[in-house]
Amino acid sequence: MSQREQWSSKLGFILAAAGSAIGLGAIWKFPYIAGQNGGGAFFLIFILFTLVLGLPLLLAEFTIGRTAQDNAVNSYRKIAPGTRWHWVGILGMITSFILLSFYSVIGGWIIVYLVKAIAGDLNNLTVDQYAEVFNGTISDPVVSVLVQLLFILMTIIVISGGVQKGIERVSSFMMPALFVLFMILVVRAVTLDGAMDGIRFLLLPDFSKVTSQTILEAMGQSFFTLSVGVSVMVTYSSYLPKTQSLPRAAFSIVGMNIFIVLLAGLAIFPAVFSFGLEPGAGPVLLFNVLPTVFSQLPFGMLFFIAFLVLFLFAALTSAFSMLEIIVSVASNGEPSKRKKWAWIIGLAIFVCGVPSALSYGVLGDVIIFGKTIFDLADYTVSNVLLPIGALLITLFVSMKMKRSALWEELQRGSRVKRGLFEAWFFLVRYVCPVLILAVMMDVLGVW
Ligand code: PFF
Repeated sequence: MSQREQWSSKLGFILAAAGSAIGLGAIWKFPYIAGQNGGGAFFLIFILFTLVLGLPLLLAEFTIGRTAQDNAVNSYRKIAPGTRWHWVGILGMITSFILLSFYSVIGGWIIVYLVKAIAGDLNNLTVDQYAEVFNGTISDPVVSVLVQLLFILMTIIVISGGVQKGIERVSSFMMPALFVLFMILVVRAVTLDGAMDGIRFLLLPDFSKVTSQTILEAMGQSFFTLSVGVSVMVTYSSYLPKTQSLPRAAFSIVGMNIFIVLLAGLAIFPAVFSFGLEPGAGPVLLFNVLPTVFSQLPFGMLFFIAFLVLFLFAALTSAFSMLEIIVSVASNGEPSKRKKWAWIIGLAIFVCGVPSALSYGVLGDVIIFGKTIFDLADYTVSNVLLPIGALLITLFVSMKMKRSALWEELQRGSRVKRGLFEAWFFLVRYVCPVLILAVMMDVLGVW
């Protein structure tokens, strides 16, 4: 077998892992889920879960990947040979497959808006007109499937070219630019008339709105935004040289992620309240609100186009990681097979994702367990598969990896303190599994 690919620089890995984490989860999903779950209390619980569960899990996945230096399935095999733990990797591949099948629908929506904004179709419309244009477009079966395909094709092309070239290049300029644009957007949003109501909605917790469902969704959201529970981060850290500090990478990714979630909330909710929209509008929320905020800025449409390009990159860098985990297992690290598998798997995901794309139009009436096909796929991934994957990963680390080996791996390239290590190990071994199980059982009404 030829030599494994590695990231070309320390920054390359952080950018790629942050690129996987920061995507639709923080920018599109967080505002609409928070909107449906009462705002502030959801935000607070989400932050707590991110720190107590997401951060330790991210570090756990990094440690597994760099210890084993192999793909998501073989990493578990190498560390625990002769056991069934590699099913954690297989579960991750299945999760990733379903995830990309609906993620690409939203990626497609970004492309729709981009084309419309460039064509000048979005100039000077009212809030209601934006919603009308958008909802009209996504209910068109041909358009929604075509743009979904386009998004998947972009993902396939980058992944068939290999991890390094594709991912590092795109991520390195995207992230800083996205931060800057978001700041501009937030300044505009919080100075709108009536913005205070939106800020209050996001930052003042109202615990009367919290149910077991809210808690489960906040947990699922914290896994989703950090890309944990799928073994994607196992895969990415397996390309990592031993000189990189894993704790530092984990802290910076969590920090960036929380920051962008906050920016997204501060950009959306003040506008929602100022324009008299419904915070619980669901997946279309961001797409209905944002163009109106941009249209209130000088050169608004130009800013909007720049934002959409960056937003598309953010979504793509997350999509890359979803396809990468499956392709790296299928091609077993052999560069000559990468291209073939990227196309086969990518197109299979597209075919399976078509019903999700159509659930805002012709398949809108198909309701399973009270949800549209799109919502069902999203719910299953975020609130069932990610927590199960996360639970298994914490069990794997605490049962199958030696404490001394973990300590050694985490010290490579880092001057991590023993106390910090012990705190992390305690969280992974006891707090994470118990908390994840408790939240899931609570929803199932076990007590
Ligand atoms: N973290 C990505 C986002 O917030 O958009 C979504 C994601 C990517 C989740 C990869 C899980 C994953 F394995």
